[in-house]
Amino acid sequence: LSSPLNIGIAGLGTVGTGVLRLLTEKPALLAERSGRRLQVTAVAARDRHRDRGIAIAGYRWHDDPVGLARDPGVDVVVELIGGSDGPARALCEAAIAAGKPVVTANKALLALHGTALALAAEAKGLSLGFEAAVAGGIPIVKALREGLAANSFTRVFGILNGTCNYILTQMQETRRDFNAVLAEAQSLGYAEADPSFDVDGVDAAHKLTLLTSLAFNCPVDFAAVYVEGIRHVSALDIAYADDLGYRIKLLAIARQTPHGIEQRVQPCMIDADSPIAHVDGVFNAVVAEGDFVDRTMFSGRGAGAGPTASAVVADLLDIAAGRKAPTFGVPATALRPLAHSPMQRHVGPYYVRLMVSDRPGVIADVAAVLRDQKISIESLLQRGRAAPGQAVPVVMITHEAEEAAMVRALSQIGKLSAVMEPPRMIRIEQL
Ligand code: NDP
Ligand code: HSE
Repeated sequence: LSSPLNIGIAGLGTVGTGVLRLLTEKPALLAERSGRRLQVTAVAARDRHRDRGIAIAGYRWHDDPVGLARDPGVDVVVELIGGSDGPARALCEAAIAAGKPVVTANKALLALHGTALALAAEAKGLSLGFEAAVAGGIPIVKALREGLAANSFTRVFGILNGTCNYILTQMQETRRDFNAVLAEAQSLGYAEADPSFDVDGVDAAHKLTLLTSLAFNCPVDFAAVYVEGIRHVSALDIAYADDLGYRIKLLAIARQTPHGIEQRVQPCMIDADSPIAHVDGVFNAVVAEGDFVDRTMFSGRGAGAGPTASAVVADLLDIAAGRKAPTFGVPATALRPLAHSPMQRHVGPYYVRLMVSDRPGVIADVAAVLRDQKISIESLLQRGRAAPGQAVPVVMITHEAEEAAMVRALSQIGKLSAVMEPPRMIRIEQL
């Protein structure tokens, strides 16, 4: 065996302790697979005395993560602190400045600073590994960058947030509303105390920017992503989706359109028979459509100590073995900005639910607005009859329409006197 690879780990929370456990549980297997012993020499976290359920006394302790990056006994830095700036960013920059490769699970950091960090790392011939940052244990970064590298991609999409997928699955199975399921997920520890990054789609959007860059070889551009979360998805919409043969999933989608690359995160209705509709609970999945390979789908656990450690250590094995690939598939200097197709130009079918007062002429008024916006209705559903003064749901599925026209139509429909609540719209994604 060659000399050991000396590893410094900053951040000893869920993922950091998972990585420590993996590295200490199977040293022989890892050494055999990489040709070097992977040994942790130094660690950093906030609280030195916190009980982490794992022995850390044998490693050099750093209160300051930047100190860990500069430690001469550290060859590679593993950043597992989190956050788009602050100590995580300072640590990665310091590691690269010190000529050390970096492995990180931090999608928030990379979504905002990924291109700059890749440029800095590659200028020094260093790896910046981030397999763990997208879909946890699923090796989708390697798949896009290496296994599928011969393809041009038309679309890459997936379920990238386990918390949202868990909540939507529970809503589907128990017919409860979002708030009730979220509260239960928090009490069970599945959702964070501040769940906003997850349920508002931000976490999935962070991950999507990285998939987009890998698939289309463009700089990471978080500002280009249209982001919508799942707070407004109601039990009623889930029930209608079921009736109509759909499932509602929070999808993150990057696709090539005639106007450029469209990047969006939003609740979508998808065919209930499609393979990704069956990816339930905390599981993640990614579908990549390449011109030669056709459609590929990857699924597995997107979070948790074990799956995420599996991805972090895979990056460490590459570094130990001397296997190196450009961060985003092409050299960072060759990443080319591509035209960005804004959400207003999105074209697709829509599900629209209105709560209307049940009286003659309402549907005619709604249809007139849609006609004026050149939106064609594929089907329309009204069940039951409301008591006088009460609202009854009317559901429509449209043919393909442009988002800008749909937004105008919904604004006008919302102003009709018979429409008693703001219209609900969910995009239908054709898979
Ligand atoms: P945790 O909150 O469990 O752990 C964060 C760690 O960072 C803690 O050990 C904390 O120290 C340490 N830390 C925080 N601030 C500082 C600081 N200023 N200096 C030194 N150390 C600091 O986070 P996770 O393990 O869940 O997540 C880590 C990263 O992995 C994040 O980027 C996250 O997005 C990503 N990730 C997480 C997944 C998961 O399943 N949890 C899945 C995929 C990616 P202390 O313990 O002393 O408070
Ligand atoms: N919070 C994320 C999720 C896990 O719910 O999928 C970390 O990526």
